[in-house]
Amino acid sequence: MELAAAIKGRRSIRKFKSQDVPRSIITEVLDTARWSPSWGNTQPWDLYVLTGEPLAKFKAMNLRQTLAGAAIASDVPMLEKWPDAMKARYGELGKVVLSVQGIKREDKEGRDQYYQNMVSAFDAPCLILACISAENLVEYQMFDLGLISQTICLAAHDKGLGTCLLAATARYPAEIRKIAAIPENKKIVVGIAMGYPDLSFPLNNFERDRAKLDEFVHWVE
Ligand SMILES: Cc1cc2nc3c(=O)[nH]c(=O)nc-3n(C[C@H](O)[C@H](O)[C@H](O)COP(=O)(O)O)c2cc1C
Repeated sequence: MELAAAIKGRRSIRKFKSQDVPRSIITEVLDTARWSPSWGNTQPWDLYVLTGEPLAKFKAMNLRQTLAGAAIASDVPMLEKWPDAMKARYGELGKVVLSVQGIKREDKEGRDQYYQNMVSAFDAPCLILACISAENLVEYQMFDLGLISQTICLAAHDKGLGTCLLAATARYPAEIRKIAAIPENKKIVVGIAMGYPDLSFPLNNFERDRAKLDEFVHWVE
């Protein structure tokens, strides 16, 4: 796949076919992604690949915690108050993902159903939990983890797979550790849902928005 087409064609996939991803394909994706850059080639990441029974347990746990109203206890803080411009974009995305599914604002049951689907990792057949070391500063490890995460998404896209980065799958690390045997010295940052995309589903098709270059590029000449 041509690189620019891959970058523009990758999008968050929120509905997957009920088809497992062969371990060999996941391995190929990760084998490509390990060539991502990192500060001083430190490669501060650890990836936990959940499929099958452990993933089913994860989904059930994350849903159970959500329905119980458990407080988010993520290993890295999750901002709730965004600066205005970002808040507006976040709000816009929230509206679009509901409206393309025909879920109205006042339809609480529909909204709850969608939210429960999200915390269940959109029922993807594979979830990669991306971690950093708890024994090192977070900031540049987060940068490096972002790089490998994007590379995973692109390499997966190249193989006809869909992905969705999901902070919603990293909210309850203490519970996750019990299922995925992730040690205390790793911070669980984000999950990457992966599977074969159901491209007929509106949630995987809507038109996305991006800021224009002049909103964030500052030429210094
Ligand atoms: C760190 C991070 C966390 C995210 N968490 C979620 C999430 O919890 N739920 C979700 O539906 N999408 C999540 N996303 C996906 C973003 O909403 C998505 O990347 C953004 O809207 C841009 O759309 P695109 O990926 O289709 O280009 C996350 C993305 C990133 C980078």
